[in-house]
Amino acid sequence: MSAYKVADAKNLIKLDAMENPYCWPEAIQQQWLETLKNSAINRYPDPEARILCDALRNSNRLPEESALLLGNGSDEIIQILLMALPQNASVIAPEPSFVMYKQIAQSLGLNYRGIPLLSDSFDLDLPAMLANINELQPALIFLAYPNNPTGNLFDAQAIKTIIASAPGLVVIDEAYAPFADSSFIDSLSDYNNLLVMRTVSKLGLAGLRLGYLIGPIALLEQLHKLRLPYNINCLTQVTAAFALNNADFLRQQTENIRQERSLVFNALQAIANIKPYSSSANFILFKTLGASADHVFNSLKQQGVLIKNLSRQGGVLENCLRVTVGKPEENQAFLKALQAALMLN
Ligand SMILES: Cc1ncc(COP(=O)(O)O)c(C=O)c1O
Repeated sequence: MSAYKVADAKNLIKLDAMENPYCWPEAIQQQWLETLKNSAINRYPDPEARILCDALRNSNRLPEESALLLGNGSDEIIQILLMALPQNASVIAPEPSFVMYKQIAQSLGLNYRGIPLLSDSFDLDLPAMLANINELQPALIFLAYPNNPTGNLFDAQAIKTIIASAPGLVVIDEAYAPFADSSFIDSLSDYNNLLVMRTVSKLGLAGLRLGYLIGPIALLEQLHKLRLPYNINCLTQVTAAFALNNADFLRQQTENIRQERSLVFNALQAIANIKPYSSSANFILFKTLGASADHVFNSLKQQGVLIKNLSRQGGVLENCLRVTVGKPEENQAFLKALQAALMLN
């Protein structure tokens, strides 16, 4: 195995990690600092994070009958879910998808299998998914909705067929929900094996490290046995609750990012030899048709723009790069650098 490496973005325009590029308005920042003053950092945090859970319930309009489990990022929730499985359990996820499903499953010695997405549309290969479910009887299936790194929403009907056919749990990972118009939260009451996972990272609070899992009380009660008692620190609890209760500015920032996403997509489409894939998230995957992705990636970096090179993962991602949608000026700098990189080829 190799560790999950994070590139050093010092002095670069950082468009590699699907972060919200905007800071908080000055007045909101002042109010937040006042709130922080009352934090009892000499005490352990509330192990149940009750105030934060209420804020999450309200802001996501969660069904009354569902329970919540909080994690130090959704990464930790993925780890908790996988730690709950028996040693010989199988785990399935489509590929390419979020790399931590495989990374953590394999680190725990579980039987992980990636099922290739359809190469033309990046949608689920439903017959292949069902055949593998039948063969492996997986204890857990991860489906990122929208998917990272492809940016698309899988066919919702295919997902429902998978949930109905799965002998174990199905986790719909809605990390990019702020940028999509579709969710499985309303379907939670239709299934007893469905869990929806979200994060505040992409909304604009990546530094807090807070993810949450929503699902049936009986299931989450079991997962809580594996959660470390104080996994959400008090500054995260206070700050996330404050932000969610004052979320208008975050919604505005999200709207700006969605508008910029269209502009960047159209601009990419207009560049010869670049094939962008339409996205319901805050990033765009694109293929370099005439030049190698490695060359384009390195040239962009030399010009001061950091994006993500996915080409080394091979398969459908060969010659693919992923750019996070940033501020207008950052996106313009990226597009200009991309054009220069292609000219230099
Ligand atoms: C699909 C998906 N799920 C989960 C995560 C992790 O989110 P968090 O910051 O909450 O750990 C990411 C991060 O990029 C992601 O792309």
